[in-house]
Amino acid sequence: MAMTTTTLFHALVPPNTYKSRAISSSFVSVPRSSTPPSSPSLQFRSLVSDTTSIYGQRKFAGNLRRASLTVSAAAAAEPLTVLVTGAGGRTVLFVCMSGQIVYKKLKERSDQFVARGLVRTKESKEKIGGEDEVFVGDIRDPESIAPAVQGIDALVILTSAVPKMKPGFDPSKGERPEFYFEEGAYPEQVDWIGQKNQIDAAKAAGIKQIVLVGSMGGTNINNPLNSIGNANILVWKRKAEQYLADSGIPYTIIRAGGLQDKEGGIRELIVGKDDEILETEMRTIARADVAEVCVQALQLEEAKYKALDLASKPEGTGTPTKDFKALFTQVTARF
Ligand SMILES: NC(=O)c1ccc[n+]([C@@H]2O[C@H](COP(=O)([O-])OP(=O)(O)OC[C@H]3O[C@@H](n4cnc5c(N)ncnc54)[C@H](OP(=O)(O)O)[C@@H]3O)[C@@H](O)[C@H]2O)c1
Repeated sequence: MAMTTTTLFHALVPPNTYKSRAISSSFVSVPRSSTPPSSPSLQFRSLVSDTTSIYGQRKFAGNLRRASLTVSAAAAAEPLTVLVTGAGGRTVLFVCMSGQIVYKKLKERSDQFVARGLVRTKESKEKIGGEDEVFVGDIRDPESIAPAVQGIDALVILTSAVPKMKPGFDPSKGERPEFYFEEGAYPEQVDWIGQKNQIDAAKAAGIKQIVLVGSMGGTNINNPLNSIGNANILVWKRKAEQYLADSGIPYTIIRAGGLQDKEGGIRELIVGKDDEILETEMRTIARADVAEVCVQALQLEEAKYKALDLASKPEGTGTPTKDFKALFTQVTARF
């Protein structure tokens, strides 16, 4: 079913867009209702013993070199176990959260990834299929997320505090909607403490990479998003981003523009830094495109130790992005 909604963040980045039909429909959407691969070291042992038995002792050194090359290739091909947080499923108006899309993409590419998801409730788990690899936990509680991070190679953080709309908003009267955060679910608790908990847990588990999705606008304290519920959401998001950049873990920080529920893969993506993109007309991006950039970041060295603003050209202008290596190569900012 073709359905286009644009959510809260997009609504509030450019002033006045809350009046659009797409935005008001998104406000309605606010309520939620074979054999396992052997390890590289095991493969190494078996390759060496094969080599010696075939070629004998004299050729061992040369063949060992060849064997170790083969082992690197085998190790590179090993599927990455990736945990996606914020993977829960909102279903109202067919809105699919970015975390859910990333989780689905990883599952579809099972030759490259072993997907895990973290959701907040059992109901959310059921909504996305209820598989064993979906863990239930609250990122504000480190103990509850510990099982999900055990044994993972990479983490994609797609959790965020989500403001709720105060009841009684009537767009037909030209009213401005008002928003608030529930007690205990303010950006300080979710976007700062919650993301920090995930980074700490992942670090303790010896993780190799973290991809964190944030939001454009954080360079300006007066960005309207910060005034939602007087909660400074972008300030807390940025604090978590800084914590990640300082963690020593290879990272990619993706600061998205206003998210749209549109088809992915059909627009030219643009990257930038320091919110420069917000000065242009290209301030939005499809959730599916953000999700694809997250997945690509897991596979490309060019994405590591980088922070990027991300938006897209309007459909029909530019050339749809297919070369993600080139996209990440354009990015030079580390924060
Ligand atoms: N929306 C926009 O226009 C926009 C623009 C730029 C950047 N972003 C950023 O892009 C990312 C994805 O946004 P989105 O709109 O697709 O998704 P979203 O609505 O921001 O989803 C947030 C996710 O975080 C989960 N979550 C919240 N508190 C949690 C907790 N204490 N423990 C565990 N999980 C928790 C939510 O679970 P529940 O479903 O259980 O609440 C939900 O799955 C977010 O970081 C967002 O800030 C959004």
